[in-house]
Amino acid sequence: MKLLQYLNTEQLESYGNNGYLVVPQFLSVKTVDSLRKAAADIIDDFDASDVSVFSTKNQIDRSDRYFLQSGEKISCFFEEDAFNDQGEITTEKAFAINKIGHALHDLHPKFKKTSYTCELKKLMSDLDYKSPVIVQSQYIFKQPKIGGLVKPHMDAAFLFTEPISCTGIWIAMEDANIHNGCLYAIPGSHKVHTLTKRFIRDSITASATKFEQLSEEENWDTKKAVPLEVKKGDMVILHGKLVHFSYENRSKASRHAYVMHLVEGEYKWDAKNWLQRSEALPFKKLNEEVA
Ligand code: FE2
Repeated sequence: MKLLQYLNTEQLESYGNNGYLVVPQFLSVKTVDSLRKAAADIIDDFDASDVSVFSTKNQIDRSDRYFLQSGEKISCFFEEDAFNDQGEITTEKAFAINKIGHALHDLHPKFKKTSYTCELKKLMSDLDYKSPVIVQSQYIFKQPKIGGLVKPHMDAAFLFTEPISCTGIWIAMEDANIHNGCLYAIPGSHKVHTLTKRFIRDSITASATKFEQLSEEENWDTKKAVPLEVKKGDMVILHGKLVHFSYENRSKASRHAYVMHLVEGEYKWDAKNWLQRSEALPFKKLNEEVA
């Protein structure tokens, strides 16, 4: 019998069956508020003339250098619907940003402190990781009225190791529900579906990305998806092969979340992954950072 450090047996079993698990109050309200303030300060300091529209509707278009370089930076991406047909921003900056990514956990003191924790180390051990590595972090705003659709996907398609080892840690920075665009997931989809495509750096142009088809597309029955409504501070653990998505946010409330993705550091990080770190900022091992 395995000795669990963070989860209990029921939680681990539920995660194994569903491919996701909600853990209430992973972060305190005080910690969440300090991260929200930190994210607001980043946007305040952001020069909005440095525009890169981030759209998950049209992933092919995400292929600019700004996106590729964000793997080792703190970069801001706009909501597609924040612009009018003339390409002008139609709302104030604080409500026009889709997300901040992708190295908050390594570059920002507050996010770093909240990412490299004993609790996460214990949790990843319960999930059988020997040497977990946080490869990316994102602060997602899901802005009121214009928060964009995130189509059904598996996170492992974006962060590939051989074998697959991606896990998402999604932490609610405010209450998320069906009205403001909470996560939806197809229970058990991680067990029955395979990874059919990968999002990769295009080796021909080196500054673009594309999807590489691995096998024939499968039909995911999104009618079987369930909403994951959570409270501020709650965590959702997402298996890398779990099919999940979220609808547009057309409500008056935002739906902020801080999301980290981890992989097994003992497995090979694929050279085709869009996210590559230079020698200036190598990936860090969680267990070494949290002594
Ligand atoms: Fe995802």
